[in-house]
Amino acid sequence: ARVDIDPSSYDAGDHESFMHKEILEQPAAAERVLRGRLDQRFATGHLGGLNLDARELREIKRIKVLGCGSAYYVGQMGATLIEELARIPADAEAASEFRYRNPIIEPDTLYVAVSQSGETLDTLLAVQEIRRKGGRTIGLVNVVGSAIAREVDGGIYLHAGPEVAVASTKALTNMYLGFAMLALQLGRVRDMSIADGRRLIGALEALPRKIEEIIATDDHLAGVAERLAEAESLFFVGRVRGFPVAREGAQKFKEISYRHAEAYQTSELKHGPLALISPAVPTIAIVPDDELVERNVAALHEIAARKGPLVVVTHDSVPLRGIKAERIVVPRSEVELDPILLTVPLQILAYHAARHLGHDIDKPRNLAKSVTVE
Ligand code: AGP
Repeated sequence: ARVDIDPSSYDAGDHESFMHKEILEQPAAAERVLRGRLDQRFATGHLGGLNLDARELREIKRIKVLGCGSAYYVGQMGATLIEELARIPADAEAASEFRYRNPIIEPDTLYVAVSQSGETLDTLLAVQEIRRKGGRTIGLVNVVGSAIAREVDGGIYLHAGPEVAVASTKALTNMYLGFAMLALQLGRVRDMSIADGRRLIGALEALPRKIEEIIATDDHLAGVAERLAEAESLFFVGRVRGFPVAREGAQKFKEISYRHAEAYQTSELKHGPLALISPAVPTIAIVPDDELVERNVAALHEIAARKGPLVVVTHDSVPLRGIKAERIVVPRSEVELDPILLTVPLQILAYHAARHLGHDIDKPRNLAKSVTVE
């Protein structure tokens, strides 16, 4: 059984699709997930629903994030964020694979299940497997009272509001913000300084307006998307923080434009896929102005030398050194929070590509909003 949301029971207002409406709702949705959860005095997160006190938070030695599809990719962004900010080893895994390898469940690991619907069976069964073995679980879930929300020991509701389009946008943005607050709280019971906590809180509070700035570049993104939609096959590449962004960008593109879109670590291109680069295969490269910028720009040279068309999602401070590329510029934030601002234009690109191709944006072929089968 697959749960299909009936769009007729919701109202898209003046929007020609729910996906478009939900993309535009992101600044407001982001404000909702942050509201009341940032503690200015102690520069930390205030996540009461975790049901974990400071001592229990300190005892966590590892974080394992589980989700499916885009929730898994955002989970990978979240794990990277937690590792960076709280210095706790963290990784993400596809919930659909987890229980098939007889996973080792550790008492001092915190298992984080991520799901918009809270009904994805693979994620629910992963949570049940962990609980059966005595592991501690929390959920990052949008739908209140859903199966996963009822199963976990605690969690963070995402407050994104109803998400109708199959391609998830606002819920994913709020998942990322949920992870950022979790990382802040885990970091501040460890070695993160009050100054670093404040730096992060300031950046989180500024994010909704920055998402709005990206949405305002819609016309430019529509033009780029229409050109990309002509390609049969595309690469999305990024490194470290940028790699899950590339994975999520490729996922959105595949889901609704039905184009072959493959995500790769930029560093791995030279170990194989560079052979596929040609004028017919565009690459969308995630190149934030961070410690990897020089290496990323060097990889762009490799692609340009093979005449691969380039779209670079980047900051305006990044020098492209004469490389012929279409630039998509996102506003600066603190580097740890770059991934979410780099993701939003990729949602908009996928949306416009699908629209240009005349596809059913809200109900893409072969997909359901929530997969409640194994
Ligand atoms: C997202 O655009 C996809 N439709 C899909 O990958 C989705 O994220 C996945 O099926 C998980 O759904 P959930 O968040 O409801 O668990």
